[in-house]
Amino acid sequence: MMADQVIHKGLEGVVVSTNALTYIDGHAGKLMYRGYLIGDLAEQSTYEEVVWLLLHGELPNQRELAALKAELVANRTIPEHLLTLLKLLPADTNAMAALRTAVSMLALSDLESEDNSEAANRRKALRLVAKMATVVAAFERIRNGKEPVLPRPDLSHAANFLYMLNGEVPKETMARVFDVCLILHADHEMNASTFAARVTASTLSDIYSAVTAAIGTLKGPLHGGANTKVMEMLLEIQDPDNAEHWIKEALANKQRIMGFGHRVYKTEDPRATVLRRLSRELGEKQDSTRWYKISRTVEQEVLAQKGLYPNVDFYSASTYYLMGIRTDLYTPIFALARIAGWVANLLEQYADNRLIRPDSEYIGPKERPYVPVNQRN
Ligand code: CMC
Repeated sequence: MMADQVIHKGLEGVVVSTNALTYIDGHAGKLMYRGYLIGDLAEQSTYEEVVWLLLHGELPNQRELAALKAELVANRTIPEHLLTLLKLLPADTNAMAALRTAVSMLALSDLESEDNSEAANRRKALRLVAKMATVVAAFERIRNGKEPVLPRPDLSHAANFLYMLNGEVPKETMARVFDVCLILHADHEMNASTFAARVTASTLSDIYSAVTAAIGTLKGPLHGGANTKVMEMLLEIQDPDNAEHWIKEALANKQRIMGFGHRVYKTEDPRATVLRRLSRELGEKQDSTRWYKISRTVEQEVLAQKGLYPNVDFYSASTYYLMGIRTDLYTPIFALARIAGWVANLLEQYADNRLIRPDSEYIGPKERPYVPVNQRN
């Protein structure tokens, strides 16, 4: 690196590529997929429609949507040897580590895994969307000593995941809440995991390697791992009356409050607006408003003291909790939604690739002579 160049720590503000997928206005709190506002998509669309939208640029017509659904259904099963691997994992295996390993292993049974043509990558993209949901559900069943549940072709992507997870067909309202959660998490411009995926693809490595890198990146608590940490915090607070004191103390101890702050949003994340409503509605329906109440107090306190707004991970935590989902599955669920955005970004990267290889400023010792081992102190 040249001496007069500026270091952009964390690459803040650095534009590394174009994208025709997702637009964020961090000051207005706006998020759009292919020009459609996230609130409109959450209200009116389905995850399957959003997958098509991200992969093809337009909302599907009925024929296209039917074809996409059929292809996803046809790809839902996972190989027997992958189920065997999941059964061999130690009981306390981290759920994201399991997903990362499983996706890497999926490559081994895909005859097209090393074919980087656009047609093969589009087929693999849908296989990944379909199979990652099955992997996460099977992992959860197996670690609870239960048999994995075979996917059902008559159910939507969201309903089928909950069916494979719980062994019973979800109520329509639950399936819809989960569908909306998948839509909200489907893509988010140049976030850290998408960047990791693009960096991997920029070496012309394969799509499975890129998605494996993305999963490893999403796992961290500063990124997707925050949703699990949010629920751990709410559980620790336990009572709405404890929330204000808990947050004051945490902030006094310079703790980061999970689910708050964002590199891009300087106001409320529009996904949090939808998730706040879902969390409240589910709580009211189940006569269990404790988590919503704690969340509201935490939100008010963090805004008042730090000027920070909740991000997507804050209210998704209590929403998933009220759906009866185990806390460490929240990040794998983020991944099985975000796979749509990852693969759409990867198609863009392969279509207009240049190796991503930034610089760093060297601050180690200056040039010096080598000293043989017998002459060192
Ligand atoms: N709690 C307390 N202080 C915070 C928080 C927070 N959640 N977020 C930022 N700050 C403070 C931080 O301490 C720093 O203060 P100072 O300048 O006095 O040291 C200042 O705000 C700027 O923070 P930063 O870490 O330089 O900001 P960033 O843009 O690099 O980080 C972030 C963004 C999301 C990593 C950060 O806000 C954070 O750690 N949030 C908590 C984890 C989280 O919720 N992550 C999910 C992100 S959104 C969805 C996703 O990607 O999964």
